[in-house]
Formats: sequence, structure tokens, C-alpha cells
Amino acid sequence: MKIRPVGATLGALVEDVRLSSISPSEFRDIEDAWHEFGVLVFRDQHLSDEDHVAFSKRFGRLEQGLKRASSPSVSSALARMTNINRDGSVVEPTSLQWRFHVGNTHWHSDSSYKRVGAKASLLAAHVVPEEGGETEWADMRAAWDALDAGMKDWLEDKVAIHSYVYSHSWHGGLEVISDEDVRHLPPVEHAVVKVHPDTGRKSLFVGRHASHIVGQDEAESRALLKTLTSDACQPPRLWKYRWQPGDLGMWDNRCVLHRGHLWPQHQKRSMVRTTVAGDGDNEWALAEAS
Ligand code: OGA
Ligand code: MN
Repeated sequence: MKIRPVGATLGALVEDVRLSSISPSEFRDIEDAWHEFGVLVFRDQHLSDEDHVAFSKRFGRLEQGLKRASSPSVSSALARMTNINRDGSVVEPTSLQWRFHVGNTHWHSDSSYKRVGAKASLLAAHVVPEEGGETEWADMRAAWDALDAGMKDWLEDKVAIHSYVYSHSWHGGLEVISDEDVRHLPPVEHAVVKVHPDTGRKSLFVGRHASHIVGQDEAESRALLKTLTSDACQPPRLWKYRWQPGDLGMWDNRCVLHRGHLWPQHQKRSMVRTTVAGDGDNEWALAEAS
């Protein structure tokens, strides 16, 4: 197995490994590389859904998706993110699926609108458009390191409200989310500075679901969170990757933000994702056996 860093502060390509049949020592090397680089892409894997799920489960319990209007094709552990209808046509630009992709173009950490955010996301490329459709990642460890001492001091004890209703109001509001989503996803609190449980490194925890800071003026702290996010997501902390069918990418939502880039809407793109649930007491984690 070869690990090839991509030259940003995060990200590596992993070569000469078959994820459908890895040994325990290969798994340890992959986990170490994931902790070091935050994002790994394995090319040319062409995993079946079963192998995708099995590899994901090595990192922990999987997280249950939202089985509601905003993501109609989510089954319990595997989310299909596609613009292809059953009959082979592509979805309309006004469809929920397309609006969901538009929402995904904003930097985010998966499930940060839940009480316990996601640990890992594992995204497999099945059908890839000819142009665009890249995923891009940003290193929030290096973003924290780059802040000046005064800002670090100020942020150290701050807690942000993350809200699904807030972030989804950017691209369609209550049309995109159902009443049920709103009931199941009340606003939650997350520390703005996270310490990684495995590496001990600090990172900045912001992104599209972060609405405002507890105890601060709402409009001012909202503007600050947006600025922190856009300043954080700058080179050399970025890796933008163009998918090939058969790739599997995985990232650490605890210290990496990501976004999806759009593509010509008539071209097909079909991705499959699993999410590893955040550790500890987590009402969104599926039982081991599922
Ligand atoms: C995701 C996501 C972006 C993309 O899977 O969580 O944000 O490029 N994907 O599809
Ligand atoms: Mn995402």
C-alpha cells in the first residue's frame, strides 16, 4: 500500500490496496493515514454496496440518514445521492435532489446539525459527469493553527448553535425541509474549537450549519462564523478532487469541512455515501448489526 500526500495541508491518495479485502495491518495503516491526512481517496475500487458498508463499519457504528422529504433516497445506512430518475432521465433543476446539491455547495461538516455530529463520511463515485461535480475539502486543523493568538483566545470557550432549519433556509427554506425534519432536528450546540480524540489536535468547527454563537449578538456572531469559514477554506488548506467511477473518498468530519461543486445539470452523477456515527452516546447511531 502506498500513501501519496496531495501537497495541501490535508489529503492523500492511497494506492495498491483493495478495500474489499484488507488485512488488519492494512486497516491500521489506513486509519493512521486518515488521522494524519484527514481525507483519503482510494481509486479504482468499484465497491459493491455491501463492501462499502463493511469497510465503513471498521471505523464505527454507522449513522442513520434522514428518511424524509429532503433526502428521499436515503435508506438506513446508505445514502444514494443521484440526479438520475428511475427511468434514466435526469432530475429537474427545481427538484429536491438538485436543490440538495445546491445546498451542498456550501462548506459543511456532515450532520453538525445533529447533537452528535458525524465521525467519517465515505463517498463512492458510481457515475461521474464529464465536467464539474468535484468534491473539495478544507483542513480545519491548519485553519485553527493559522488564526492569530487573540482570535484563538476569544474563540477557545465559545459554543455555536448549529441548525438544520437555518442552513436549509439558504436554498429554499421550508420548501426543502419537511415539518418532520424540523421536529426531529432542533438546534444543537457544538464547541467552536474541537480537540480531536485520536490526535489531540485542535480544529475550528464551523460551516454552513453553524448559525450563531451562544451569548453573543446573533447577527454579529453569524457574520463572524461566515467570515471564519471563508477565511479557513483557503489554500494551502484545500484539496479539490475530480472523481472517476470506482473511487472511494473518506473524510473526518471532526476536523475537515467539505463542499460539492455543481456540474452541467443535464449530465448524470450518482454517488453513494455511508456515514460513521460520532462516538459515544448517539441517538443517530445504528445498532452494530444493521
Ligand atoms: C456529502 C457531500 C458533496 C458531493 O456526501 O456529504 O457533501 O460532492 N457531498 O457530492
Ligand atoms: Mn456533506
